[in-house]
Amino acid sequence: MRAATYESTGAAADVLRVRDVDRPVPGPGQVLVRVAVSAINPTDLKIRSGATPRDIDVFQVPHMDGAGLVEAVGEGVDEARIGQRVWLTLAAVQSRWGTAAQYSVVHADRAMPLPDGASFDLGATVGIPAVTAAHCLFGDGPIGGRDVLVAGGAGAVGRAAVELAAWAGARVAATVSGPEKARIAADAGADLVVNYREADAVQRLQEWTNGVDRVVEVALGPNLDLDLSVSRPGTVIVTYAIDGPDPVIPVRRCMVAGVALRFVLLYTVPLEDFAAAVRIVNQALSAGALTLPAITRFPLDQVAAAHQAQESGAVGRVLVDIPD
Ligand SMILES: NC(=O)c1ccc[n+]([C@@H]2O[C@H](COP(=O)([O-])OP(=O)(O)OC[C@H]3O[C@@H](n4cnc5c(N)ncnc54)[C@H](OP(=O)(O)O)[C@@H]3O)[C@@H](O)[C@H]2O)c1
Repeated sequence: MRAATYESTGAAADVLRVRDVDRPVPGPGQVLVRVAVSAINPTDLKIRSGATPRDIDVFQVPHMDGAGLVEAVGEGVDEARIGQRVWLTLAAVQSRWGTAAQYSVVHADRAMPLPDGASFDLGATVGIPAVTAAHCLFGDGPIGGRDVLVAGGAGAVGRAAVELAAWAGARVAATVSGPEKARIAADAGADLVVNYREADAVQRLQEWTNGVDRVVEVALGPNLDLDLSVSRPGTVIVTYAIDGPDPVIPVRRCMVAGVALRFVLLYTVPLEDFAAAVRIVNQALSAGALTLPAITRFPLDQVAAAHQAQESGAVGRVLVDIPD
C-alpha cells in the first residue's frame, strides 16, 4: 500500500516520504480501515517534529484522525462491521499505523460509525478536536441552559466546542483574534463573539453573563485573568493546551473566585470518559450538529506540504486525500 512514513523526527520536508509498505493485518479487537481522507492535528506535527518525543518502531505512519471504510476485522470483532463507513481517532497512539496511508489498523473502539449524511471529509475532521471539545464541555455535567465561554472559538477544538455547546442548549460566547475568525465562531453558533485583543473584551463578556459555568480554554496563561473576570463560584475552567511557558496560577484569586481548574489531555482521559465523549460526538454527528470547517487539501504525495500548511497556520483544517 502507499503510505506516508518517517523513520526519524525533524522538519516535514526532511523526514516525510511516501512509499510502498506492506498492508497491516488487524489483530484481535482491531479493524482494518481503507482510509479515504486523513486529517492533520497539531499533535501530529509535534510528534513528527520531535517536540513531543515518541519511540518509533522502524517507521511511523503519521496522523491520528481520518475516515474510511472497514475492510476487515480481527478476532473478536463483529464481521458485520465490514463495509461500515467510519471516522477514526488516535490511530497512531502506540501504533505505527496512522491514517496517512491507504490502510490503517485501529482498535475497534477507535473506528466509530459515520452517519449516512456525514461525508468522509466531515468524519476526518471530528476526531481529536470534537472528542476533546466534548470531554471539556460535558465532563463536569450537563450544560443545557448554562453559559459557556470558548477561548479561540475558530480553532479546530474551539469551533467544535462552540458547535457542541450550542447543540446542547448552552448560551455560548467565544473569543477570537480578528474578523475572519469572528465569522467562523458566529457561524458555528456562538451567541457572542469578542476579540480577546481588544480592551473591551472583559466588559462585553460581563455585560453578557453574570458568570460563565464553563470555560474551554486553549491558552490558560494569557487568558486566566479574563477567565476569572467572567467566572463565578462553581465555574469550571478546562484547559486542553499549553503552547508557551507554564503560567503562574494566582491561587488565592482562584480560591476567592471559587473556580475549579481541570486539565485535559486526550491521551490520558480515562477510557469510560473517552467513550462518553465519543458517544456525544456520535449523537451530534447524527443530529447534523457538527459541520465541515474550511478545508485545505493535499494529495498523499504532498504530505510534507500539507504539514507545512498546518504549521503556517492555515485557517480551518488541512486534509490529505488518500489515493484509491
Ligand atoms: N489536550 C488535548 O488532548 C488536546 C487535544 C486537541 C488539541 N490540543 C492542543 O490544543 C491546541 C489547539 O489545537 P487546535 O487543533 O484547536 O488548533 P488550531 O485549530 O490551530 O486552533 C488554535 C486556536 O487557538 C487560538 N488561540 C491562540 N492563542 C489564543 C489566546 N491567547 N486566546 C484565545 N485563543 C487563542 C487561535 O486563535 P487566534 O489565531 O484567533 O488567536 C486558534 O484559533 C494545540 O496546542 C493542540 O496541540 C490538545
